[in-house]
Amino acid sequence: EKGGYEWFMLKEMDEQPQAVADTLLGRHSQTGQLQLDEMRLSDDELREVDRIVIIACGTASYAGLVAKYAIEHWTRIPCEVELASEFRYRDPILDKSTLVVAISQSGETMDTLMAIRYARQQKARVLSICNTNGSTIPRESDAVIYTHAGPEVAVASTKGFLSQVVACYLLALYLAQVKGTKYGDEIASILAEIDRVPAGIQRLLDEGDQVRKLAADLSGSRSILFLGRHVGYPVALEGALKLKELAYIHAEGFAAGELKHGPIALVEDGLPVFVVVPPKGRDQLQEKTISSIQEIRARGARTIVLAEDGDDDVVPYADHLIRLPKVPTLLQPLVATVPLQIFATEFADQLGHDVDQPRNLAKSVTVE
Ligand code: M6R
Repeated sequence: EKGGYEWFMLKEMDEQPQAVADTLLGRHSQTGQLQLDEMRLSDDELREVDRIVIIACGTASYAGLVAKYAIEHWTRIPCEVELASEFRYRDPILDKSTLVVAISQSGETMDTLMAIRYARQQKARVLSICNTNGSTIPRESDAVIYTHAGPEVAVASTKGFLSQVVACYLLALYLAQVKGTKYGDEIASILAEIDRVPAGIQRLLDEGDQVRKLAADLSGSRSILFLGRHVGYPVALEGALKLKELAYIHAEGFAAGELKHGPIALVEDGLPVFVVVPPKGRDQLQEKTISSIQEIRARGARTIVLAEDGDDDVVPYADHLIRLPKVPTLLQPLVATVPLQIFATEFADQLGHDVDQPRNLAKSVTVE
């Protein structure tokens, strides 16, 4: 039941700190040794993996896009992400050293199911990341990592997404452990950072009023854009999808670096644009993102900037500033997504829409 909440979605957003903690629970020791009990593939089989193909739909595919960055960085195994509905129709090249990772909250999505059936016929090994125990996709997979987020009722995925991202990190670190591409102490320190994430999510939920007020202010907008770089790019896609699903307005996510290759033509006076700013680091991602903010602001965009605590360089360019707890770049999607969920929910509520059951959508899409 809704437990006093107006919408299941609000309840499920509030459950996210617990969902992330439960996905981690019992799966690693203090020394960073990972234990994935339902991993029915042996370490020898995993050492043979020379390529990873992630397949999923919708929000789950954005969890996959985040995972690609972590998998390639931590394991050095090439990883690609593909929409399940496109995957099997292009005659993909697969063999037994390919690990196909299917991500699905429901475990019943027909496109994803057909894609894994195809992958297994081609002798690839299939591991699924799933939230629903005993559902079809994990039953038809060689191995499964359950997300343990608890039932998700609202059509728009929230805790499902965050727990999928965490499960992907666990998979990436497990592969790094088995392949020896990361030492135990490095894995332990990444896990310690992930363990701190639920507290950061809780803080963002507690600070939700600021975002709700912004949603009320902007609820007359007919179009909103979302920009991100690196793992902020899938966050932008997810922010836009939430708004499309719930508010039925035009919303698009872009890679910030793509702006001048087309999307900047959309920017006009007063257009709200969310920008996810990566933490400062060696790779200049933060600086490059700030220059994108300057470019769109010079063309009249109303900038809503998500930046970590203490990043003061963004302040002059932000019409609205949403502060994020400090986390390593690869983990930022776990916190940056939360204000975007709050925004979409409030925006839809302001318009009087059914937040849990958006028009034309179903919770599990069991047709192709
Ligand atoms: O159950 P699944 O994770 O396989 O579902 C995939 C998509 O249908 C799902 O994420 C959809 O995009 C959500 N409504 C997003 O909020």
